[in-house]
Amino acid sequence: MVPSKDDPLGRIRDGALAAREGRVVWIGEDHDLESQVALDGDLLDAAGACVIPGLVDAHTHPVFAGSRADEFAERVSGVAYRAQQSGDRGIARTIRATREADGATLLDLAEARADRFLANGTTTIEAKTGYGLDVDNEAKSLDVLRQLAARSPLRVVPTFLGAHVVPPGIARDAYVRSVMDEMLPAFKPWAVFFDVWCEAPAFTPAETRALLGRAKAIGYKLRVHAAQLAAGEGPDIAAELGASSADHLEFATPAQIKALAKAGTVAVLCPAANFTTHGPRPAIEAMREANLRIAIASDLNPGTSNSESLPMAMSLACLQWGMTPVEVLSGATVQAAHSLKLEGLAGCLRPGSFADCVVVDAESPEAIPYYVGVNRVMRTVVGGAVWEPL
Ligand code: NIG
Ligand code: FE
Repeated sequence: MVPSKDDPLGRIRDGALAAREGRVVWIGEDHDLESQVALDGDLLDAAGACVIPGLVDAHTHPVFAGSRADEFAERVSGVAYRAQQSGDRGIARTIRATREADGATLLDLAEARADRFLANGTTTIEAKTGYGLDVDNEAKSLDVLRQLAARSPLRVVPTFLGAHVVPPGIARDAYVRSVMDEMLPAFKPWAVFFDVWCEAPAFTPAETRALLGRAKAIGYKLRVHAAQLAAGEGPDIAAELGASSADHLEFATPAQIKALAKAGTVAVLCPAANFTTHGPRPAIEAMREANLRIAIASDLNPGTSNSESLPMAMSLACLQWGMTPVEVLSGATVQAAHSLKLEGLAGCLRPGSFADCVVVDAESPEAIPYYVGVNRVMRTVVGGAVWEPL
């Protein structure tokens, strides 16, 4: 799996790989396997199929209770997503349902989601909190992620999304203070990343700068929901603070895209959410021109994208936005891993990387997004072990 100019995917025809203690120890051509590796374990025959790195989903919200299927139906008949964010609707409704659910219920829901991720070929997720939004309920959500990581083979990278929106019943200033002074310091041991949604109905640029600045000082790495529903300063702030990712970016300008590329920030694009909110097409050409790294994510959440399927998101990015199959494959593996600081470990197959791979019933890796909305995953392997659905 060494990408080259001739083959950016670095594919090996009639390939084989060997794993020990969860890591890849050898990868090459099948006819060299026996002479180069002492084989002493289980053999998984993938003859006739494609084996790709386990997919990496760099933007998910898997800790929530309740449903908003009725809001989906309203949007289909023309109601705007933003218009649904008032009173006890939209995100506020999911906050209430998530607060009412106990940890065990949330864990059951998150485990079912983890199984759907694995079934669809995803072996690593970035997982956000963000529907608790007070000290106790964000702590409960982070604890669900901790338990999920311990129980499921899915690799879970936790993000504290304390700045998703200002929850009902508290003044903006008081909430921002509580995130900065109470939650950020208390939750540092439980989260790798901190995330802010920078735009109405969520946080202003000034609030975003203050929140991200504090998080960075405490030692969090940063992610930003930016320019999803309207143009704004989110992408500039992400670049300024050297965020690991800026997500959505549907309204990002070419200048902002250049700034993000310069900062080494990864664009995490969410095609399914774009589709269900009837958003504009992100400026893919400007991203290519700036050499901005582009990851593709499911954005699993109850409002804009109730889907654990990265292959579906990849198909949409191809069909709706004109991204190429190679771009979306790289977006759901190498680029996503880069945004999670897991480059060389996840989203690739090479000696030393996690032995996470997916056996797919497809004639080539590029054919994966061509199978729209159909799960062609035959086997998901995490850390060298075949995952079996319960
Ligand atoms: O990524 N943009 C903010 N958050 C989610 C939507 C959350 C919701 O509607 O519950 C997103 O699209
Ligand atoms: Fe999101």
